[in-house]
Amino acid sequence: MGTTCSTPQEILVGVTGSIAAYKAIEIVSGLKKSGFAVTVALTPSALKFVTPLTFEILSGKEVYSEVFAEKTKVSHIEIAARASLFLVAPATANFIAKAAHGIADDPVTLLYLSSNCPVVIAPAMNERMFNHPAVQENLETLMRRGVIIVSPEEGRLACGSTGKGRLASVEKIISTVEKLLKKRSTLKGKTVLVTAGPTQEKIDEIRYISNYSSGKTGYALAAEAFKRGAQVELISGPTNLEPPPGVNVTYVKTALEMRKACLDIFFRADITIMAAAVADYRPVKKFDGKLKKSHNLITLELVENPDILKELSSKKKKTQLIVGFAAETSNLLENAQVKLQEKKVDLLVANLVGDGKGFGQDFNQVTLLFSDGRKHKLPLLPKEKVAEKIFDQIEKILSN
Ligand SMILES: Cc1cc2nc3c(=O)[nH]c(=O)nc-3n(C[C@H](O)[C@H](O)[C@H](O)COP(=O)(O)O)c2cc1C
Repeated sequence: MGTTCSTPQEILVGVTGSIAAYKAIEIVSGLKKSGFAVTVALTPSALKFVTPLTFEILSGKEVYSEVFAEKTKVSHIEIAARASLFLVAPATANFIAKAAHGIADDPVTLLYLSSNCPVVIAPAMNERMFNHPAVQENLETLMRRGVIIVSPEEGRLACGSTGKGRLASVEKIISTVEKLLKKRSTLKGKTVLVTAGPTQEKIDEIRYISNYSSGKTGYALAAEAFKRGAQVELISGPTNLEPPPGVNVTYVKTALEMRKACLDIFFRADITIMAAAVADYRPVKKFDGKLKKSHNLITLELVENPDILKELSSKKKKTQLIVGFAAETSNLLENAQVKLQEKKVDLLVANLVGDGKGFGQDFNQVTLLFSDGRKHKLPLLPKEKVAEKIFDQIEKILSN
């Protein structure tokens, strides 16, 4: 049977060499109090103002302060990939210039180039530095690329003068982060069960039957449900994907394990989305050890796996909503219509697979079939967008 885990959203905090670096201590502590996981990265100049130990204790995680450190266990790529948001506070004129020009010669600029999450920077510097055309042009470049700037405030600066350049307040910086990651609450109080990925049906100790499903659609659906405020249970077959933040994941391998995990959770799910590509058949018997090479023809006897979607639909209470998926290689709409009626689901998501379509791709073109006979064809979209559109329709069904 599978294992279960849940992860909070992770904020990557980059600290650069400003006199305001000590404020990053309060920022990290505030973000932790708000329930975020935090990883801190420091530039060599930041190390002149603050120590990694403080951040290590506050964040509970290894601090990334040396690009070539021997003891660092995780790479900059892994650290950047985990982050839901990258906050650089305080951001020096030097960091802003390097980020605008793609220079990556310290931990913070290296992580900036390696990340693809929203980036927020809070500049802090002397007013003359802040107003310098070079700094202003670099800030404009970053803004054009989608970086969110928390403007510095007017006030007394560390150098003794007054003017605009003081790091924005800790409260303002934290509330900017929270607003950007704010969850919608349209599914608050609802439990959403999503299945994702393929299953693996063992032939012998080292071989199995499976399919090309990557799990991307199911993971995108789970992430979207969490964004809308739902309690999310993801049952996942073997994939190479990171678990979406905030989602409880149960890992399974076979169709029978997937069925058991679904039955354990289904009774408390308000919305169930069966996006996994469960193997239709499994070998009747699993060979012990490794099946030896033979020059004779071997016959693999297969038995049908239980139809999990049909079984759940038959147990469905009036208040529960079920979404099924139909992955077809031909006659898409005809086959999907039959499946919609046979399985008695509220919504069926039909898509063509094979020949480079659907499985394993980042984009998908699906048609939504509703139990009242309506059909809604969506354009080719990134799987995250497909997930949004599916949840928009689910919310419409729930509101009727
Ligand atoms: C005492 C002191 C305070 C500094 N404060 C700032 C600051 O608030 N903002 C800034 O842009 N640079 C400031 N600097 C200059 C930066 O530390 C310097 O440009 C450094 O190269 C920045 O490196 P980093 O961006 O890699 O952290 C300060 C320097 C010193 C010595």
